[in-house]
Amino acid sequence: MWHGRFKGDMAESVKDFTQSLDIDWRMAECDIQGSIAHVKMLGSTGLLKIDEAKKIELGLQKVLEEIKTGKFIPSKDLEDVHMNIEAHLTEIEPLGAKLHTARSRNDQVATTTRLYLRERLKKLKDGLKILLSVLISNAQRHINVIIPGYTHMQQAQPISMGHYWLAWFEAFYRDYERLEFALKSLNECPLGAGALAGSTLPIDREMTSELLEFDCPTRNSLDTVANRDYMTDYHYFASVFMIHVSRLCNDLITWNTQEFAFIILPDEFCTGSSMMPQKKNPDVLELARGKTGQVIGNLIDLLVTLKGLPMTYNRDLQEDKRGLWNSFDTVESVVKIMSALLEKVDVDENSALAGLEKGYSLATDVAEYLVLKGVPFREAHLKVGRLTGWCIENKISFSDLTFSQWKEHIPEIDEGVIKILSVRESVNRRNTYGGTGFSQVERQIKIAREKL
Ligand code: ARG
Repeated sequence: MWHGRFKGDMAESVKDFTQSLDIDWRMAECDIQGSIAHVKMLGSTGLLKIDEAKKIELGLQKVLEEIKTGKFIPSKDLEDVHMNIEAHLTEIEPLGAKLHTARSRNDQVATTTRLYLRERLKKLKDGLKILLSVLISNAQRHINVIIPGYTHMQQAQPISMGHYWLAWFEAFYRDYERLEFALKSLNECPLGAGALAGSTLPIDREMTSELLEFDCPTRNSLDTVANRDYMTDYHYFASVFMIHVSRLCNDLITWNTQEFAFIILPDEFCTGSSMMPQKKNPDVLELARGKTGQVIGNLIDLLVTLKGLPMTYNRDLQEDKRGLWNSFDTVESVVKIMSALLEKVDVDENSALAGLEKGYSLATDVAEYLVLKGVPFREAHLKVGRLTGWCIENKISFSDLTFSQWKEHIPEIDEGVIKILSVRESVNRRNTYGGTGFSQVERQIKIAREKL
C-alpha cells in the first residue's frame, strides 16, 4: 500500500512483528460499515462519481458477504483488517483503489474501533439490566429473611436479606451509569480527521457522522487520532464492575461455608472434588472473583501505553485492543453467569438466625432505646457495653437475661426492652430512609424498579 517510497520489501520478521490482523480481524464488519459511510459521502460530495461510489459500495457488500460465509481468508502479509479489506475489495472491484480518498488508517481504525465498542457495550448494557433485575427480584424474594449484617467481619446488626441484595443493586447501577458514560464518550465520529490534520479535499464530516449514527463529528483532528479515552472509560467501568463482583462473590463464598452456612448455592453452579466425595465447591464464584485481576490489568495496560505518548498517533496505539477484547469477553461472561446463579441462591434463615441469637447484635437497639428514655447516647453505649462484657463473661445472651437482671445493670431500663429484643423487631424498627426496615426495603425496591 505504501511501496512507492520504498526500494526493498519489508523483512518477514517485521511483517510478523507489526501485523495486527489476529487482533483486529474481529472488527471486520464494523470496518466495512465505516467504509460504506465513507464512500457514500465521497459520492455525495462529488469526490467520486455517483456510479463509482455505488460500485465500491457493492464491492464492499460482497466482501462483507464473503466474511460472513467464511469464504474470505485474510492474510497477515496485509498487516491489518483495514488493508485486507481494501485489498480484497480492489480485487473484486478495481475502483476500490479510490476508497481511501481523504482517509487515513488513523481515523479509520478509531472509527472502526468505536463502532465495534458501541455494539459490544450496547449488548452489555442489556446484560447488566438483567443482572439488576435479578437483584431486585431477589430483594423481593428475601425481604423478610433476616441475616446478620457485618462490619469488620464481626456480627454488627441484623438486616433484611432484601436490603443486602439492594446494596448490590446500588453498586451495579452505578456501574450501569458508568457504562452509559463510556457509550456516550465513544459516540463521536473520527472519520475525516485523516492522518492527523484533516484533508484538503471537500469532505462532509457531518454526513459520515450521521450515517454511522454518531452524535457528531469529533472537533479536533489531532485529538481524534491520539485519543483513546473512550477505551479507558470502558476499562474503568469494567474494573469497578469486577471489583463489585469480586466482593459479592466473596460474601457468598464465605456464607456458603460450613461455618456460616446460611446461603445455599444451586447444585448446578457448583463443582465437586476429584478426591473428596463430600465437597460442593463454589468454583463459579471463585473464578468470577479470580478474573478481576485481568480486567484491572487491562485498564492499567492501556493507561501505561498512553502515558507520555506524544501527540498524535503513534504505533503503540495498535496495542490498545488485546486487553479490550479480554475485558469484553470476561465481563460479558461474568454478567451472564452471575445473573443465572444469583437467581437461584437460597438463604437458610434458621441457620442465619441461630448465629445471630448467640451474639449481641441488638446492643445498639438497647442503647438507642435508652436514648429515648433520656439517657445521653455515650452513657447508654457505656452501660450496654458493660452489660455485654458481663454477659460474655457469664456465657449468657441478651435473650436469656431476666428483666430484673436488666434492671440491675441498667436502672433506666423498663419492661419495654423485652419487646425490642427480637431480631425481627430490630430490623423492622430501623425505619430510617435507606435503612434496613422492611417497609424501607419495600420502598427501595419500588424506586429500583422505576429506575430500570
Ligand atoms: N493497525 C493499525 C492500528 O491498529 C492501523 C493504523 C496504522 N497507522 C499507521 N500510521 N501505521 O493502529
